[in-house]
Amino acid sequence: MSIGIKNERELEAMRNAGRMVARVLSVLKGSMRAGMKTSELDEIAEREIRAMGGRPSFKGYRGYPASLCVSVNDEIVHGIPGKRVIEDGDVVSLDFGAIAEGFQGDAAITVIVGDAGLRAGCLLDAARESLNAGISAARAGGRLGDISSAIQCCAESRGFNVIREYTGHGIGRAMHEDPLVPNFGECGTGPELKKGMTLAIEPMLAVGGWRTKVGDDNWVVSTADGSLAAHFEHTVVVTDGEPEILTKG
Ligand code: MF3
Ligand code: CO
Repeated sequence: MSIGIKNERELEAMRNAGRMVARVLSVLKGSMRAGMKTSELDEIAEREIRAMGGRPSFKGYRGYPASLCVSVNDEIVHGIPGKRVIEDGDVVSLDFGAIAEGFQGDAAITVIVGDAGLRAGCLLDAARESLNAGISAARAGGRLGDISSAIQCCAESRGFNVIREYTGHGIGRAMHEDPLVPNFGECGTGPELKKGMTLAIEPMLAVGGWRTKVGDDNWVVSTADGSLAAHFEHTVVVTDGEPEILTKG
């Protein structure tokens, strides 16, 4: 698939989908507490998105069984919600995607439940900052590698590592469109960024190394060394200036 440039009508649909995703994540953040099962978060996400007239885009994607991804502590992405009970001190990543009027929104946040210590707080700050750095680098006339490099520099300057085996992506009518948006790379390299490109930028950071392993369910991705991970994601539109964030609350 070629790199899609969206027109104003398509962008309006993506704004709508993005807003819905942001609203669902904000409800989930407000609902999260120790003692709840991760499946309860999935139920809330599905109920909220359907009430807004959207559809959860992860459900059924390559056989994925839920509407939401819930990845706890050393889990990075693609955690399937289930019987696991969230405990005080857990670091919980929530990744949610929705489709409305044929267009997709995709976003993720990481939340600390109760007190997880200083290190976890620093990791989340660095992951959030890395996303912001990546977004700021997404400008028409620049290169894709500008985004990747901004994310990597920000994460590593704070003493963390970026996960290399999973990336951000183009997004539009499909959840995953070209190009891949790696979280490491060199500025000034890669395809040129053009006004109207819509990208899901999603740094995943670990306290330890960047190597990953996939769980027995063939979905959940964890750090190979068991270290803590965090994930933040926004869907954005490239413009001539600061990009427009479609999944902002
Ligand atoms: N936001 C993730 C991604 O960009 C979620 C997709 S996982 C699946 O790949 F659950 F939908 F499969
Ligand atoms: Co994504």
